Amino acid sequence: MGTSPPMTDTRVVIVTGAGGGIGASIASAAAQAGWGVGVLDHDPAAAHAVVATIGDAAVPLVADVTDERSIEHALDALAEATGRPAPDAIVANAGIVRFGPLLDLPTADFRAVVDVNLTGTFLCTRAVARRQHSAQHPGSIVAMTSMNGVAPGPNAGAYGATKAGVALLVAQMAVEWGPFGIRVNAVAPGLIDAGMSQPIYSDPEIRALRSARVPLGRLGTAADVAAVVLFLLSDEAAYITGSEIVVDGGITRSIIATLPRPHSVDSIGVRDSAR
Ligand SMILES: NC(=O)c1ccc[n+]([C@@H]2O[C@H](COP(=O)([O-])OP(=O)(O)OC[C@H]3O[C@@H](n4cnc5c(N)ncnc54)[C@H](O)[C@@H]3O)[C@@H](O)[C@H]2O)c1
Repeated sequence: MGTSPPMTDTRVVIVTGAGGGIGASIASAAAQAGWGVGVLDHDPAAAHAVVATIGDAAVPLVADVTDERSIEHALDALAEATGRPAPDAIVANAGIVRFGPLLDLPTADFRAVVDVNLTGTFLCTRAVARRQHSAQHPGSIVAMTSMNGVAPGPNAGAYGATKAGVALLVAQMAVEWGPFGIRVNAVAPGLIDAGMSQPIYSDPEIRALRSARVPLGRLGTAADVAAVVLFLLSDEAAYITGSEIVVDGGITRSIIATLPRPHSVDSIGVRDSAR
C-alpha cells in the first residue's frame, strides 16, 4: 500500500462487482500485477473497503451495472483520475442469483437476474468498448460466465440462462470488436468457495460431498479464477478472443464418470489388446 505507481502511469482495468467475493480477488490480483484498478460496485461501503485493502493502485467507482447513466459517470470519474479517455480493460464480473423453482419463481426475480447478469454485462462492456473505439485504443474485456451456463442448477431461476447468454454475447462482441483491436473472452468458474456460493460451502457435509465430486479433489478459490482473468487481460493472451476458459477442476466434463457402470466395461480394452 502506498508504493504503487500513480494510476496515470499504469494500465487501468475496471472490475465490476469488485466489492466482494471473486471480484475483490480479481481487483487485488490486478493491482499486484501492476494494473491500476477501478473497483466498481453498487455498494459504496463494499467498494471503499476493497480499495482500502489495495491502496493507491485502486479507486472506488460506485455504479449500478444496469444503469447506463451511472456507468458513464463512473467511467468519467476514472478518466479524470487517470487522465485517459478510455480504460485499457474491463472485467464484467457483477452477477446475482435468485433461487426458486421455475414454476413458482416471481417474474421480477427472473427479470432482475437478466438485468444484472446479461444486460448489465452488455451495458458495461459496450460503454468501455465505445470509449476504446473512439480513442483508437486497443483493449481487453473479460466477462464472468459459469458452469451453470452449460449445466443448469435446479431452482437457480434465470441464472444459467443468463450465463449461457453472456457466453454467446462474448463471442459476438469478439467478432464485432476484433477489427478495432478489442479482445473479448469469458471465464467460467465451477464450484468456487467464495462469494455467492459461501452459504452452500458453510455446510461441512455438503462441502465434503461436493469437493469429492471434483476430479481435482477440491473446491476452487477466488484466486484460481483471478489468475485466469489476469492471464486473459495480459499480453500473453494477445491472440485469444471469443474464448471461454473453464476454471472448474474438471467437474463440468465429468458427468459420465459419475454414472454407474459394470466392471466388465472397464476391462474390455485390456482383453482386446492381450489377444
Ligand atoms: N461464487 C461462485 O461459486 C461462482 C461460480 C460461477 C460463477 N460465478 C460468477 O462470478 C461473479 C462473481 O460472483 P461472486 O460469487 O463473487 O458473487 P458476490 O455476490 O460475492 O459478488 C457480486 C458483487 O456484485 C455486486 N453487484 C451486484 N449487483 C450489482 C449491480 N447491479 N451493479 C454493481 N454491482 C453489483 C455485489 O454488490 C457484489 O459485491 C458472478 O458473475 C457470478 O455469477 C460465481
